[in-house]
Formats: sequence, C-alpha cells, structure tokens
Amino acid sequence: MSTSDIDSILQEERLFQPPEHFRAQAAINDAGQLQQMHREAEEDHTAFWAGLARREITWREPFTTALDDRAAPFFKWFADGKMNVSFNCLDRHLADRRDKTAIVFEGEQGDTRHITYGELHQQTCRFANALKNAGVESGDRVIIYMPMVPEAVIAMQACARIGAIHSVVFGGFSAESLKDRIEDAGAKLLITADGAHRGGKIVELKAAADKALSLLGGNTLDKVIVLRRTGHDVPMVEGRDLWWDDATRDCSDDCPPEWVGAEHPLFILYTSGSTGKPKGIQHASAGYLLGAITTMRWVFDIRPEDIYWCTADVGWITGHTYVAYGPLAVGATIMMYEGAPTVPDAGRFWQLCERHKVSIFYTAPTAIRALMKFGDELPAQYDLSSLRLLGTVGEPINPEAWMWYHRVIGKERCPIVDTWWQTETGANMIAPIPGVTPTKPGSCTQPLPGIAADVVDEAGNSITTPDKGGYLVIRKPWPSMLRTIWGDDQRYVDTYWAKFDKRYYLAGDSARRDKDGYFWIMGRIDDVLNVSGHRLGTMEVESALVAHEKVAEAAVVGRPDDIKGEAIFAYVVLKGERPPNGVDEALTRELRQWVAEQIGPIAKPDDIRYADNLPKTRSGKIMRRLLRAIARGEEITQDTSTLENEAILLQLQGKA
Ligand code: WTA
Repeated sequence: MSTSDIDSILQEERLFQPPEHFRAQAAINDAGQLQQMHREAEEDHTAFWAGLARREITWREPFTTALDDRAAPFFKWFADGKMNVSFNCLDRHLADRRDKTAIVFEGEQGDTRHITYGELHQQTCRFANALKNAGVESGDRVIIYMPMVPEAVIAMQACARIGAIHSVVFGGFSAESLKDRIEDAGAKLLITADGAHRGGKIVELKAAADKALSLLGGNTLDKVIVLRRTGHDVPMVEGRDLWWDDATRDCSDDCPPEWVGAEHPLFILYTSGSTGKPKGIQHASAGYLLGAITTMRWVFDIRPEDIYWCTADVGWITGHTYVAYGPLAVGATIMMYEGAPTVPDAGRFWQLCERHKVSIFYTAPTAIRALMKFGDELPAQYDLSSLRLLGTVGEPINPEAWMWYHRVIGKERCPIVDTWWQTETGANMIAPIPGVTPTKPGSCTQPLPGIAADVVDEAGNSITTPDKGGYLVIRKPWPSMLRTIWGDDQRYVDTYWAKFDKRYYLAGDSARRDKDGYFWIMGRIDDVLNVSGHRLGTMEVESALVAHEKVAEAAVVGRPDDIKGEAIFAYVVLKGERPPNGVDEALTRELRQWVAEQIGPIAKPDDIRYADNLPKTRSGKIMRRLLRAIARGEEITQDTSTLENEAILLQLQGKA
C-alpha cells in the first residue's frame, strides 16, 4: 500500500450507495429489513440462528438445542440434529435442478466442461463408493492435494457424503508441507493428480505426493488415488496407487449419505499462526454449512440465474466456502478455472467473465492490483456486462485498487463487497449487504446479522472513540466458527480465547471503527504475514531458513508491497563468514529455492540481507520493530542504545 493510499484511507469520505437497478432486484434491499434482522439477532442470538438453521438446512433429524455453551469456548451448535452436507449441496436440488449446470469449468489451455447437478451427484456418489472400497470410513481423514478441477470438488463432496474428514492441501505447497499435514491429521488416504496446469507448465503434484509419503516412512497412509489430469507419465506404486478412473469404474452411482450429527467434523484446514507449525482448523458440519448459505444470500445476493465465480483455489478457506460448499448448497452455478490469470495474457479473467457470462466475481485485492498494472485496455476488450456484483477477500484493499475495480471492471454499476473473515470463522463476518449498505473504498463496512464483532482495548472494553484502533474480537459464538485445533484443544484456547478470559474470540487482527461505525482492518497483531492474500507465519519462514545447512539464525518480517500487500524480508546470519559487502547472489537464489521446497513458492523471501548478527536487546530478544523499520527503509527513530551490537545496524540496512 502506498503512502498516498494510507493517507486516503485515513480521510476516506467517499461513500457509494448501492446502484439503483441492483438495489431494486436485491433480496435484501431495504434498510428497515436489514435493521430488523440485526434486531432479531440482538434480542435472541440463539433463536436467530436456530430459525435460520431450520429454514436453510435440510435435516434428517431436527435439532432441539441450538447452542450448547456448557463447555465454552468449545461451543456446539444444533448438536442433536442429524444431517449431511453433501445431501444439502446435491441431493436436495435434484427434484427441480437436476439438469441445471452446477459447474462450468475451463482449463488454462481452454478445455471446458459443463457439469449438471445430476452429473455432479452421480460422480460424487461413485467416488464416495470408491473411497469406501479403499477402506475409508466415517471420521477418517483424507488429504486432497489436487488441481482446481471439478474432481477436487467431487472429492470434497464425496468425503462429506460418507462422513470422512477432508483436509485439502493447496497444490502450491511443497512435499514437506504436505507431509506435515498428512502426519498431523493422521490421514488414511491421499487424493492427488498426475499434475496441474499452471502458467503453461505442469505442477508435479504426484511427484510431491510421492516425496511426502517417502518422508513419512511408517505412517498409516497406504492408499493414493490419482486423477489423470495432464496425461504425462508418472510412476505408480503397486498396491498403493490407484488411478481415479480405475477406482470408480465399477462403482455404483448410488451412495446413500451418511447421516451425521451436526457437530461431526466436516474438514480440517491448516493455516499459519504466529508460533509453531500450521494449525489444523477444525470445522463442524451444520454450523459451517449455515454460515456458507446465509452469506451466499446476504453478501452475494445469489439468484438462480447467477454464474458465480470465486477465483480462490479450493486449498484455501475461500475455496471451501465459496467454491465447494456455499454456492452448491444454494443450488447456484459456479465457474471454476484452473490456471494462471496471466495466460495467455492478463486479460484472461475478463475473457472468462465474458465467455461464461459471469455475474458475480469474487477475488483477492492482490489479483486486482496485479491486473490493474496492465491498464484499462485489456478489460476494455471484453464485454463485462454480465457482471452485477464484485467482491474482495483476504486482505485490506487499497482505495486505488477499489476504485479501479469499481470503475474499470464494474463500470460503476456493480456494488463491491469487501468481505472480512478468516479460516477460523468459516464464512464472511464483516461485509456489506450489497442492496443496502453504502460502501467506502477500503472498509469491509459492518458486521453481518448475528455476528457480534467489536473493537476492544487491552482490558476488553469496547472502543467507542471513532478511529481509535484496538483488537478485533467476536463477542458471541456463531455457527460457522472453528470448533478446535485438530488434536490440540489447549492451543485452541490459548490462541483464540485466553487473551480476554475466554469471553471473546480474538481474531488476531487490529481494527478501528470510524464515526459511522464502519470497520477498517489495520493488520495482524501477531507475527503472521499476509502475502498475496495468503497467511504465512514469520516463524515458519524462519524455521525453513535455519533448516538450511549454511544458516545459523534468521529473522523474517513483512514489508509493504504494491502488488502482494506484504513482501517477505529475511535477515540471515550464516554459520560461516558474512559474504563480502553482504552480497552473495548465488546463495540468495539457493535460499529462496530452499524455502520454496520447504514450504512452497509463496513463501520465498523477496529480500535476503546478511548480517554478522541480529539486533537483540540485552535480554536476547530480537528487535523486530527495528527490523520492520529497516525493511521499510524508514529512518530509525527507535532508541538503539540498548542494542548489544549497535554496529550491525549498517549491515542490516545494506550500507556495509
Ligand atoms: C485478512 C481468508 C482486510 C485478515 C478469508 C484475516 C482481511 C486474515 C480481509 C485471514 C478483508 C481477510 N480486509 N483483511 N476483507 N479478509 N483479511 O485465514 O488479516 O486466509 O485475519 O482467511 O486475512 O486469512 P485467512
């Protein structure tokens, strides 16, 4: 974010009313209607959500208790109800939508597929039977390491259908990262592909999977199902690996859903925190689904004729809630694209919008900033008149990018929903209701009905002074919240609840509210970076660096970046001598590559600076604030006299 953006955020006075023709057709289009929803939620939080759960979810057995908070912060929602997520996403639409397109798919090379709800149901059932044949039972963990193809959604739905708990690992993560997740989840089966298409190249998913399994040695995982996607040769391990086609060939199209309790875990998704390895965020079935459905209606105003395109990979929470589950649960048509946004050129997204008549487009600010760089001419070449609503997620959007999105993509006709939420929250939490809420560039506006978001001070008191920053918290449990960290209840309590005596959920972000009560997210309060909308722990990158044989110590901080939001800046102390003048390009390349292998290409440091030492206080703590200032190229105003080793400042600044 540039300085001018920061200035304009501080004095952002622009207010955009919902465009009239959008408002006229929106399901929620009158302020009174929205106020009424908020009032109901405030008067009886539990009853508000219970009413929605009864209306929006098809239950096998109805629940009697909506919220069980006896073991807070281990909350249970609708716990004695029985249902199945896949039934809610597929079967219940068959009567009136069997021939409606569920998925429009396009690959990077232009191959397209249309899959109807009837077909998606059939393929999900078949694959669910294949999973059962491979010995997967309800409660077992299944890892999905797949390209962005319809089979990824089929695999997720099939797991949900039989009560297996999936854990999708983003295809951009390395073998090492995959191994960690398989191990932590105690997974029984892995679903992958011979490769994925990206940027004109093949991402070797199967090779990474093989490596992960070899690193695991004696793990319980003994079955791998491999989708043929790229068609190039990959070695198959006899007795362990099975092609998707062979696994499903003789399977029946009939697979009755496993009716599970509402609290049955639906999935685990790993995300970065400030300490340790990524944690397995565990979500439940019914509450999660309810959050996905309500936000599809409230925030995306979903309609039967929409073509809904969320560009996120299913490896992230956004791809879970707004590709694999939410849109299907409401019977919508989704668009899926496997590939880079810049192939053959940076007009690809707009070309896809035109070709497939996308009406709702949801992406990350980093993508908008990257595409904005190519100017207005590329989008101008395409007919974007099918678009009616735009959305953003993952990081704060700078006003400049917001205005470009509004003007060049939305032609000033489309509301923009800036949605704040997290892997942990399961669904959008703070976001506009597009037919009602006036928007301000850079603000995610206000909490959704039933979401008790607040900004509080150190003592946990609500901050009422406009524009004063504080901790973003959620004061009341909500159905789509995480249930725990897989296998580590204590870490769940410590990370999210300990700060405010288990009363409020601590989001880990700082925020402020302006005079109109609009929320402005200011950034993370912990050592989590947001690189291109993806969460990365500074410690993860540091651990990867020090695992390299030449590295003694490393400290990683974020530096603002025009495209990525945050770039990764690493200070490295080598075991041997510091390179002359702090420059060793070959080693820098080697270390970047090393981090890519340890975590994934998204974690590659953008800058590496070598020093004889790291700046530490006399008690031995690394002075991160100082390192951040240096990474930003700021004047050092901090008192450095307490530094043990003041002389290294010049090295860190790259001046010696
Ligand atoms: C950040 C992504 C500002 C925030 C859904 C949060 C945002 C983290 C926004 C979660 C937004 C997400 N405005 N910041 N609209 N949305 N964030 O778990 O710091 O990958 O805590 O979930 O992204 O990232 P996660």
